[in-house]
Amino acid sequence: MPSDKIIYVCSKCDAQASKWSGRCFECGAWGTLEAQSLKLKTQSLGAGGREIKNKNTAAGEVMTFEDLQGQELKRITADEPLAQAIFPLGLPLGSITLLGGEPGAGKSTVALQLSLQFSTKNKVLYFSSEESAVQIKEKVQRLGQPNNNFLFSAEHNTAVMSATIAKHGVQLVVVDSIQTIHNPEMAAEPGSLNQLKASMVALMTIAKECEVAIIVIGHVTKEGVVAGPKTLEHLVDIVYYLEGDPDSRYRLLRSSKNRYGTAGKVSVLQMTNGGLQVVKQAATAFISQYKPHVGSVITAVVDGGQVFFLEVQSLVTNSNFGYAKRTASGLPVKRVEVLLAVMKKRLNLNFDTHDVYVNLVGGFKINDPAMDVAICLSLISSLKNKVASGQLVVFGEVGLTGELRPVKDTSLRLEAVQKNKFAKVLLPAGNMKSMIGLELAAVDSLQTAVEKLGW
Ligand code: TYD
Ligand code: MG
Repeated sequence: MPSDKIIYVCSKCDAQASKWSGRCFECGAWGTLEAQSLKLKTQSLGAGGREIKNKNTAAGEVMTFEDLQGQELKRITADEPLAQAIFPLGLPLGSITLLGGEPGAGKSTVALQLSLQFSTKNKVLYFSSEESAVQIKEKVQRLGQPNNNFLFSAEHNTAVMSATIAKHGVQLVVVDSIQTIHNPEMAAEPGSLNQLKASMVALMTIAKECEVAIIVIGHVTKEGVVAGPKTLEHLVDIVYYLEGDPDSRYRLLRSSKNRYGTAGKVSVLQMTNGGLQVVKQAATAFISQYKPHVGSVITAVVDGGQVFFLEVQSLVTNSNFGYAKRTASGLPVKRVEVLLAVMKKRLNLNFDTHDVYVNLVGGFKINDPAMDVAICLSLISSLKNKVASGQLVVFGEVGLTGELRPVKDTSLRLEAVQKNKFAKVLLPAGNMKSMIGLELAAVDSLQTAVEKLGW
């Protein structure tokens, strides 16, 4: 039996407390704790299914696949490369797509480009309460050919948005962003967790009732705030994240969920004056500026079933303070620490009195164990002032005894190496394959890898 105890629930972050206080202990908001009966709350969640057992409740409808004969998912399509890369089969009506990313990643840019591309065949309504109509107009003029199928609204109340969508008979709706709209049935402020959920539920109803496809933008902050798109992923059909350093021109568009197609796909986009363009030579995009120098080694990683060549750069300098620094960007610093320990024990290379900085060039973020040997060799290269050949690609996982462990997708990596005209590969002996025209150095330990390079 649920007890009739009173609990206090924060209207901003949904945290629960047994005692009332002026400030929420979880999110720090003032005056947001509200008393709720625990019994009522448990019942509203349908706990134990007791309420559902009522004999007077009418049964739900069921159907066979025969009943569904001739019914197809309706999709809207656009032929431009960006729309094709993101929605290769088209965008299903009634679906919701969440487009997340850090501020400045280019979410609004992608959404505006998609709106323009879909508006050549369909009516599109773009809701933005972040930027004014004139700001959007200036952007749109840079991104493509505007037309009268592209409508704009600054409305942010979901009830009014619903009526507006129904009135104008549109097929695609863009909401920029979920953090700025509000559902009037929920008292919580825009951007709070409760309001985000309530607004998303309202959008789901709109998508189904008005038969429109909706693209919803959501900001993710570097700190990974509670009230971000991550908490909404289970409500939506398709999730895309736009990743990349705003200072770099490349962005990765990664699908982490897709109820209508394949998830895990990665597209490389390039920020230009005319918006984001799909990069054709995605495998080598991140080494386009590469030149052989001390501390730099090229590796081949696999992400979303595709091979990317990445440059691992290291800088090893004498440490001025007692505690040596370890910094990594694009890869976990913990991995660098483990590899430094392996090199100390197995190669007698001591980095204890050195500051170490490791960077994946171009803003790519990945945790592929196949990068291990490249990280080690780039550190050794910087420590010993050695330069690796620009023709060389290295990959392999480094074990705690200094052994080179085989990695998956070796054929995929070697094919990409050959296609992109690298001449030499250093790889784990366990992954040895013969490839015509490639000089392969199969090594079984980090020690042998260093000896092979003559370092
Ligand atoms: P924006 O799409 O506004 O980012 P978000 O909505 O994710 O916060 O744009 C991000 C950056 O892109 C901004 O700094 C300006 C730049 N940009 C271009 O370089 N070219 C363009 O055509 C546009 C529209 C933006
Ligand atoms: Mg924006």
